[in-house]
Amino acid sequence: MNIWVLLNLVAGIALAHPDLGPGKRGSSAIHPFVKYKSLLGGDTTPSTTSAPTPTRPPLECFQVAEPVLTPSGLTRRDASQIPVFVAADQKPIEAVVDGGGQSSPCTVLLMDHTFANSYGAPFVGEYTPPACDFDHVVINFTTKVRGRQYDRTGVFYLGDNEVWRTSTAEPTSYGIRWEWLKDMTAFQSLWKQPQTIIFDLENIVDNTYTGLLNTTLTATFFKTPAGKPGEGGARSHRPADLVIPVSQRLGAEGKPSQFVYPAQEAKSIVADFPRNANRAVVTVDVKGQGNEEFWWSNVLQSATDAFDDTYGGAYPGYSPFREVQVLIDGHLAGVSWPFPVIYTGGVVPQLHRPIVGIQAFDIAEHEIDVSPFLPLLCDGGSHTFDIKILGLIDDGASSAELSTTTDDEWYVTAKIFVWLDDDTGAVTTGSLGNLYTSAPTIALTQRLTQNATGANETLEYNLAVSRSLTISSYVKTQNTEGTVTWTQSLSYSNIGGVSGFGNNNLNAFSISGADAATGPATNYAMSYAYPLFANSTATVSPEGNLTLWAQVDQGLHVEVRGDAVLPTGLEGFLALGKIAAADTIEGSILRTWRNGTADYYRPGDNSYSTGAGRTHQVFSFGGIRPDGGVEDLYHRDVSAFNDTVTADHVNFSGK
Ligand SMILES: *[C@@H]1O[C@H](CO)[C@@H](O)[C@H](O)[C@H]1NC(C)=O
Ligand SMILES: *[C@@H]1O[C@H](CO)[C@@H](O)[C@H](O)[C@H]1NC(C)=O
Ligand SMILES: *[C@@H]1O[C@H](CO)[C@@H](O)[C@H](O)[C@H]1NC(C)=O
Ligand SMILES: *[C@@H]1O[C@H](CO)[C@@H](O)[C@H](O)[C@H]1NC(C)=O
Ligand SMILES: *[C@@H]1O[C@H](CO)[C@@H](O)[C@H](O)[C@H]1NC(C)=O
Ligand SMILES: *[C@@H]1O[C@H](CO)[C@@H](O)[C@H](O)[C@H]1NC(C)=O
Ligand SMILES: *[C@@H]1O[C@H](CO)[C@@H](O)[C@H](O)[C@H]1NC(C)=O
Ligand SMILES: *[C@@H]1O[C@H](CO)[C@@H](O)[C@H](O)[C@H]1NC(C)=O
Ligand SMILES: *[C@@H]1O[C@H](CO)[C@@H](O)[C@H](O)[C@H]1NC(C)=O
Repeated sequence: MNIWVLLNLVAGIALAHPDLGPGKRGSSAIHPFVKYKSLLGGDTTPSTTSAPTPTRPPLECFQVAEPVLTPSGLTRRDASQIPVFVAADQKPIEAVVDGGGQSSPCTVLLMDHTFANSYGAPFVGEYTPPACDFDHVVINFTTKVRGRQYDRTGVFYLGDNEVWRTSTAEPTSYGIRWEWLKDMTAFQSLWKQPQTIIFDLENIVDNTYTGLLNTTLTATFFKTPAGKPGEGGARSHRPADLVIPVSQRLGAEGKPSQFVYPAQEAKSIVADFPRNANRAVVTVDVKGQGNEEFWWSNVLQSATDAFDDTYGGAYPGYSPFREVQVLIDGHLAGVSWPFPVIYTGGVVPQLHRPIVGIQAFDIAEHEIDVSPFLPLLCDGGSHTFDIKILGLIDDGASSAELSTTTDDEWYVTAKIFVWLDDDTGAVTTGSLGNLYTSAPTIALTQRLTQNATGANETLEYNLAVSRSLTISSYVKTQNTEGTVTWTQSLSYSNIGGVSGFGNNNLNAFSISGADAATGPATNYAMSYAYPLFANSTATVSPEGNLTLWAQVDQGLHVEVRGDAVLPTGLEGFLALGKIAAADTIEGSILRTWRNGTADYYRPGDNSYSTGAGRTHQVFSFGGIRPDGGVEDLYHRDVSAFNDTVTADHVNFSGK
């Protein structure tokens, strides 16, 4: 018997779905999106009916995204009809056999696995580098699932390093299917070595939640057309020479290496940081679960018990603000204000089919250039990398400060990408300079109102947070010396609240920020905006009939210039010569809006359920010219209603 089944029998319903439950440390708080999510199960068929034999092909789900380079050319990974893949004028990358008889491209099957009761039971496999010359790696993760199932979290590790984090779509009775292609070239140093592969996809199957996750994961290795991926400008940066994990480092034991925060400190001691490093960038992977899944809609800490009597329990707190901090030997090195990813069961599940939310299949990692710390990191000693996630604690009025922890829980890892000087005996020196990292500025107003007999009816708040930081050092490497600087400037606002005695939520949320790394050999800048408007109501009649309604409008705007560590999406357009001349493009620009409304109804006796969602997404991806103009490269405008795509316009462009 699986350990979780055993625990479920002992602990009863509360633990039946440990990634949805109210947290493991005694907190009884629960967000309405979690409270009512546990009644849904991602299907509109009654739970009492046994799964019918599918009479139609599975529904193709997709995340709208720019195409990715594969040996077939620029390949779409957001098609709703498979196979609709490549731009019309694509020519496949030519297959070659080199003098040693090795052929390229080549594809390796990494995993073909069904995840059933897979808590604590990840897929474990061994990877051996293929006998195939490559400078590019793209993975293909394909999943089929039928029945009822929640949205689940998947994490892919090469040894101790997390290399990709995803979540799954909720199925239909007749089945769903999706594919996700991802450029994994940034991890080239890992792909060149044998690795233990760990794919952790925590699923539970029982009489109600019947969806088995049938997955296939392949990696394709290939060489881009000769001479195309050059140096400089927006051209893809040479992959890091080394990737150092900030994780539990359990890969050799065939276990997932993520930290579960705050129960665990997300901290690694790095004893072997190379002394000849000339650049180091940390990327952080975080995902809120349980009381932190809908952190962007959590209430002010002072109001967690405001609706206890009417809502039936506490709300998750620590405010609707989160900051992820990266600390090196206790010094703040940078922050990430996370993108509020809404997974496919989120708010109302009908919002997410067949078009899943922004980043639902590919949770982005934030890049923090820690090169100003090289004089410290290259001193030959041990150094501590610590990831903290904080919210806010308020006084019930207008004062708030960063908390020291959050509610349960966050899955966390980080990685350090390191570039080395050629001379293995070189030692990077310098002086650790100004660490200007003052506390954030926080402005807060709030109002709690009662009805005539004194029951708390609404909470309204207006929260604004801003911070900037600058870290600057003098760094001397084998070939360069000079000032190396990391700067960030971020602002956050959320005009939100709770109404209907605790059942309804409203958030007009926005994060915007700009990060930059400069130095004699580095030039990187990213600006971003994460707007989100969510308005939701939940009504439960005396008989227990549940009605949900929501409007969720979410956007993403990202511009990246210079030497990004992770792919920006421009790589394929550059490699195939789809943009005029590489040196006239400074960076990439991605702009999207995905707006939807959905409703859901089920009577108290759970005899049936109905609901439908309407979504519309406009997505554009392009290159930024030095004059600030945009060269459009990929554009999609797609709409769906009640699980069906109703309109779809796609264009590829470029030279
Ligand atoms: C991805 O993998 C699936 C399953 O192996 C396969 O059917 C599909 O054709 C692949 N997609 C691409 C773009 O190669
Ligand atoms: C998943 O695989 C199982 C066998 O492991 C099979 O019985 C089931 O039909 C598959 N489901 C889908 C949706 O393909
Ligand atoms: C209303 O909310 C405040 C703040 O959380 C709380 O102190 C108070 O007890 C609540 N009143 C009622 C009647 O629940
Ligand atoms: C105030 O709200 C409470 C809880 O819903 C309810 O019991 C009470 O009747 C309401 N008072 C009035 C005057 O509506
Ligand atoms: C939120 O939705 C409710 C219910 O549909 C509506 O009455 C209210 O006006 C909406 N609020 C905003 C700010 O859109
Ligand atoms: C609740 O659902 C039951 C069963 O469908 C129905 O008979 C009843 O009218 C519903 N009550 C309300 C208030 O909608
Ligand atoms: C989505 O809604 C926002 C405001 O909520 C609006 O600015 C944007 O144009 C809408 N986009 C689409 C694609 O409907
Ligand atoms: C692509 O099509 C959309 C309309 O669907 C249009 O607005 C956009 O300008 C087109 N882009 C290019 C590059 O042709
Ligand atoms: C949604 O589609 C289903 C059939 O798949 C249909 O029974 C239902 O009436 C539709 N709902 C709406 C609101 O159109």
